[in-house]
Amino acid sequence: MCGIFGFIGKRAAAPLLVEGLRRLEYRGYDSSGIVVKNGDLQVYKKVGKVSELSSILPNHIEGYSGIAHTRWATHGEVNDVNAHPHLNDKADIAIVHNGIIDNARDIRKRLEKKGYLLKSETDSETLAHMITIGMDSGQTPIEAVRQTLKRLTGTWGLCVLFKDYEQIICARNGSPLLIGKGDGESFVSSDPHALSHHTQNIFFLEDGDLAIIDRDGVEITRLEGGVSDTSMTVVEDEWEEADISGYPHFMLKEIHEQPEALRRCITGRLDKANGGAKLGGLKLEPVRLRTAPHVRLIGCGTALNACKIGQLAIESLARIPAVAHVASEFRYNDPVINPNAIHFAVSQSGETADTISAVKEIHLKGGEVHGIVNVVGSTIARLCGQGVYIHSGPEQAVASTKAFTNMVASLLLFSIRIGRTRSFSRERGRSLIDNFQNIPSQMEEYLSNPGPIEEAVELVKHAKSVLFLGRGLSAPVASEGALKLMEVAYIPCLAYPAGEMKHGPIALLEKDSPVIVIAPNDKHREKTVSSMHECKARGAKIILIHEDGDPISEEADVAISIPKCDPLLTPLLSVVPTQLIAYQTALELGCDVDRPRNLAKSVTVE
Ligand code: F6R
Repeated sequence: MCGIFGFIGKRAAAPLLVEGLRRLEYRGYDSSGIVVKNGDLQVYKKVGKVSELSSILPNHIEGYSGIAHTRWATHGEVNDVNAHPHLNDKADIAIVHNGIIDNARDIRKRLEKKGYLLKSETDSETLAHMITIGMDSGQTPIEAVRQTLKRLTGTWGLCVLFKDYEQIICARNGSPLLIGKGDGESFVSSDPHALSHHTQNIFFLEDGDLAIIDRDGVEITRLEGGVSDTSMTVVEDEWEEADISGYPHFMLKEIHEQPEALRRCITGRLDKANGGAKLGGLKLEPVRLRTAPHVRLIGCGTALNACKIGQLAIESLARIPAVAHVASEFRYNDPVINPNAIHFAVSQSGETADTISAVKEIHLKGGEVHGIVNVVGSTIARLCGQGVYIHSGPEQAVASTKAFTNMVASLLLFSIRIGRTRSFSRERGRSLIDNFQNIPSQMEEYLSNPGPIEEAVELVKHAKSVLFLGRGLSAPVASEGALKLMEVAYIPCLAYPAGEMKHGPIALLEKDSPVIVIAPNDKHREKTVSSMHECKARGAKIILIHEDGDPISEEADVAISIPKCDPLLTPLLSVVPTQLIAYQTALELGCDVDRPRNLAKSVTVE
């Protein structure tokens, strides 16, 4: 989604801005732009990739401060005019904005009545004109921004650059914004990845913060007045730069990083002696775990699929009701919140607006929420104040892979933790832990010999649609496989619990329809095999993901085997072939694997 980068210092701003935009590219966008203060405010913007913006930039642009933006259209079509930055009429104020101004329509009308000429269709441009009105009436830049923001409803991550002032003003409300402090220079960005190689001294702005940054300092106040509590954090954890390390795409790199990422996630958390799991960040005492009435897990997309696995594992190991919720529905369904219940918000980015709203709804109703989050210091991590970092490292491909496996692993660790407190024995716990420790090397083993992925791709790549089937823990794996293939290869996919297939989706099957069946050797295997036979009887082609040595492989058109493991842990292995099928299919179809159309890495609007 939209991204912001800004710089003020003693170095040339333009190359830093373009590089900042490149680091934001993975988030998904449709146009980009920069403005540099070089006497005047010089604006360049362009539809398409950052490389297309680069191609229209002069070889050298003077100027030591500027702001930049990648736009993911919400108001107004994708064109150069609607791209940010936006200028006021006098071209002495420039803004970039993430988020949505809900009352922009009324503001536009009022501005037009006053004679302002709005050039774009965006809600954001109104801000440049409102700030101008404030400054024309004698307000300082910060006061003009403050008074403008007070008149808005909606969300913003905002940066304002002034022709006549050596500063950038930044504000946050519902859209992430971070300030980085270097030596004699300051940065601002909506995303930590764009700051990581410049500085580790970060101010994570809170909603309602308003900051003035210049070369030497950062001054943060509150929108309603007074100094903000936001202080500098030195970020070390997970702060490495993600480069592509010789892989053709980030998605493939991240699929192959899963064993190492999983090791990071489970190291120090498996409690072999007690057959349990240690999750220090959760701050949940045994008595809380024992007396909680239920567990609720909330997420979107891939995170939601991880929640569904968590739901089943928690119920199964701890004998406590658990339910996974679609985050975008949660708040609007006016949920009943029991303050004694355990709630999890699961999110790779920690910035997903729907999930943030769900967290706020639970807080409002007196409940506590634990984050299961990848990005350290992200909004959800900070809002929850407790939880589990999944330690996947930076995930750059829009399609989530290594974050999924680590979300699942974290939820499995929790299910072991709560299960040991409430229900199962030390022996069962120990056996699970032994198996868990082996999973990273089993993933490596699988990845070194992934089986006939190419043959699966041949069956899938020209299909009208693909059906994914699984039962029990493999049903959410089927959903995740379908989501992945759909988002990167644009093939319509359906995922169904295998037994439900005969109640509707079977109507879609015709000769050669591809069906991907996930059937590890668990208690559901026999039933899943029956569903597979029902598909075969209708002429479907079966791509089967099964455990090593299982004779059902003979019944499949394409059989992909994964290493044997404890049934509870199978999602960690069975999802990997589905990721590879999605990747390889997208590649064969010439799709933009890392940046699929219309999608954004971090969905910061509801
Ligand atoms: C799928 C995908 C999305 C995200 C979803 C939630 O590959 O990436 O479905 O899973 O937008 O994002 P996070 O986990 O950042 O809250």
